[in-house]
Amino acid sequence: MEAASLTIDASDVPATPGIGVGTWAWGNQFLWGYDPDQDAELEACFRRAVERGLLFFDTADSYGTGRFHGRSESLLGRFCASLEPTRREALTVATKLAPFPWRLGRRGYRSAFEASCLRLQGKLDLVQLHWSTARYLPWQELPLLEGLADLVQEGRVAGLGVSNLGPKRLRWLHGHLAERGVPLRSVQVQLSLLSPDPIAPGGVAEVCRELGIALIAYSPMALGLLARPAGVAPALSGAPRGLLARRVWPRIQPLLAVMETIARSRGGDVAAVALNWCRAHGALPLAGLRRVSQVDAAAAALSWQLSEAERQELDSLSRTCVAAGGAMPANPFQSA
Ligand SMILES: NC(=O)c1ccc[n+]([C@@H]2O[C@H](COP(=O)([O-])OP(=O)(O)OC[C@H]3O[C@@H](n4cnc5c(N)ncnc54)[C@H](OP(=O)(O)O)[C@@H]3O)[C@@H](O)[C@H]2O)c1
Repeated sequence: MEAASLTIDASDVPATPGIGVGTWAWGNQFLWGYDPDQDAELEACFRRAVERGLLFFDTADSYGTGRFHGRSESLLGRFCASLEPTRREALTVATKLAPFPWRLGRRGYRSAFEASCLRLQGKLDLVQLHWSTARYLPWQELPLLEGLADLVQEGRVAGLGVSNLGPKRLRWLHGHLAERGVPLRSVQVQLSLLSPDPIAPGGVAEVCRELGIALIAYSPMALGLLARPAGVAPALSGAPRGLLARRVWPRIQPLLAVMETIARSRGGDVAAVALNWCRAHGALPLAGLRRVSQVDAAAAALSWQLSEAERQELDSLSRTCVAAGGAMPANPFQSA
């Protein structure tokens, strides 16, 4: 497989990053109610995203539950393969490999990597460690990462990234890779107005700026809660999202009201405000998209930016919501 050039390379990440497309829902029945009947709409989403300049796609080998194992990568691979080569080359496709307990040692990811390459039909630009094992098997992740660095040095994939790492572990792993001359391109963490920890002083964002690592924000719309106008509670698919909405929704109304005012002034949606808040903090948000209208709302955010005053007001409301119990649950696999 040819290693395509990476637009996510931290050295050329623009001051205000673009917007990526997250594909967790593409194959996940449990949380997102996926059904193969949705595939035509997902393909339409993909094509619209490419047309509108959303050129970074994120998937994972664990996306797709039960009999839909690997479905997100397979769909993305099929959609990419249907593009003409020059358009396909312009995309960056990133996958994440799960550090399951049976994936051990420097070659522990080899067969998983080959399987992902097959499902993605050879279009893979960035491979990421999906989560940190620091809290339960602290010795597992470094050899796995070494194995991914081998793949970069063998020219099998252009870039290497990590996910769900805190500032301390990020700095430590970056140092190991730097000794081998393999750059750590990116780190993906939960970051939204309801999960602002990475932008706190001493947080992941600060380490990224210092070490030249691209910051990628996942769940930037808090699973959709920051993509709806204030008022009537939304009916969200999947029992876990319903439970989350019941707890969080009443506590975020003042934030949503301000987001709506900003959205109206730009002729856009609340979703665009959530995405542009991440961009204002130097992160590339991964918007989970599964409908063409959602792609259009996300792409519209590319045409404007928050003012400094708007960003500060949202920062302050974010802190208030979190203090009032409106925070998203932290990822249990996130390291310190
Ligand atoms: N590294 C990790 O551990 C990790 C963890 C989580 C996610 N991720 C990545 O990050 C991506 C994004 O995160 P996410 O999917 O968790 O959450 P998200 O982007 O915060 O929310 C996605 C959901 O918001 C709703 N939405 C999107 N646009 C909307 C709009 N314009 N109006 C109203 N609702 C809208 C949709 O739900 P409905 O269709 O139900 O309305 C959509 O599925 C994932 O797809 C995945 O690639 C990574």
